[in-house]
Amino acid sequence: MFENKAVVVTGAAGFIASHVVDELLSKGSQIIAIDNMRTGQPKIVQEHKKHKNYKFVKEDLLHRDKIISLCKGADFIFHLAANADIRGGIKDTQIDLEQNVIATHNVLEAMRINDIKGLVFSSSAAVYGTQKTFPTPEDAPKVQTSLYGASKLAAESLIEAYSEYYGTQSSIYRFVSVVGERYPHGVVIDFYRKLRKDPKNLEILGDGKQKKSFMYIKDCVAGMMFGASAAKPAGQSSQVFNLGQNYTIEITKVADMIVEEMNLTNVKYHYTGGSVGWVGDQPIVHLSTKKIEALGWSPKTKIEDGIRKTIRYLIDNGVA
Ligand SMILES: NC(=O)c1ccc[n+]([C@@H]2O[C@H](COP(=O)([O-])OP(=O)(O)OC[C@H]3O[C@@H](n4cnc5c(N)ncnc54)[C@H](O)[C@@H]3O)[C@@H](O)[C@H]2O)c1
Repeated sequence: MFENKAVVVTGAAGFIASHVVDELLSKGSQIIAIDNMRTGQPKIVQEHKKHKNYKFVKEDLLHRDKIISLCKGADFIFHLAANADIRGGIKDTQIDLEQNVIATHNVLEAMRINDIKGLVFSSSAAVYGTQKTFPTPEDAPKVQTSLYGASKLAAESLIEAYSEYYGTQSSIYRFVSVVGERYPHGVVIDFYRKLRKDPKNLEILGDGKQKKSFMYIKDCVAGMMFGASAAKPAGQSSQVFNLGQNYTIEITKVADMIVEEMNLTNVKYHYTGGSVGWVGDQPIVHLSTKKIEALGWSPKTKIEDGIRKTIRYLIDNGVA
């Protein structure tokens, strides 16, 4: 599907999109990688630049006209750039609106103006907000608990409407937490960093009983690739999939694994208390993955293995 195609990847210097780039290069795509380097990793860009089919452009998706011109001639877009920091919206109430909604609108305008018909979009389990149904299916009713979740849902709605108007074939993925090589943010690196600073004490936000699901990066990319080529139901030009493992793990268990992999002993856990880690956190993230499974795809790597690989990556690469 992507062989010899010109594919724009937004957020290409980031964690997940960089693995999308790896996969697309292996499939023979010509990549136009866009990133403003706000949280992008320069090392990844340097590595990818060695490939003849990779072109990197440092640009901000908020610069609409530049993005329209950069996307000219593209066949497909993987739109993964975003503010990926869920908690960031509490202090900065503009960031999710700008980086996740306006930026997505600019990408959609670039697609409309350049007649680009294929889109993959990275949404999030955060859109489920306060939830009563577990595992949570794609069509579960939801009440938003974070500006990040709200902005992702707004972006999804824009994509659906543009797809309806202009016949864009879009697939939207609501990820659980993604872990693996190049992992830059989230609970695993937070615990790892705290333990590097103080190997005897670990502060855990909440009561540690939060139940979360995680997905290994290679599964995340494989799931998106699979869903992008899956036939849409008759009369639909966009579809939404949950993507993740179909079970959860308690946050204290995540801490135990990190302590073990770091070869630490006698670590005392200090819980800040309460059922959630912060305002807007979801105490349980457990998505139903039946929809994509019914089409023939499921993740290969168990949560525990994905987390252990991530910690070993952080240790082996001396991540500070
Ligand atoms: N990592 C996860 O666990 C997770 C879970 C659910 C959803 N997601 C979504 O997946 C996508 C990728 O997340 P990630 O973890 O790789 O985050 P990341 O921060 O590593 O990557 C995002 C990239 O986008 C770039 N970017 C941000 N705003 C930009 C802009 N205006 N113009 C150009 N580039 C911009 C950043 O510099 C960064 O390189 C995001 O959409 C995120 O919301 C991630």
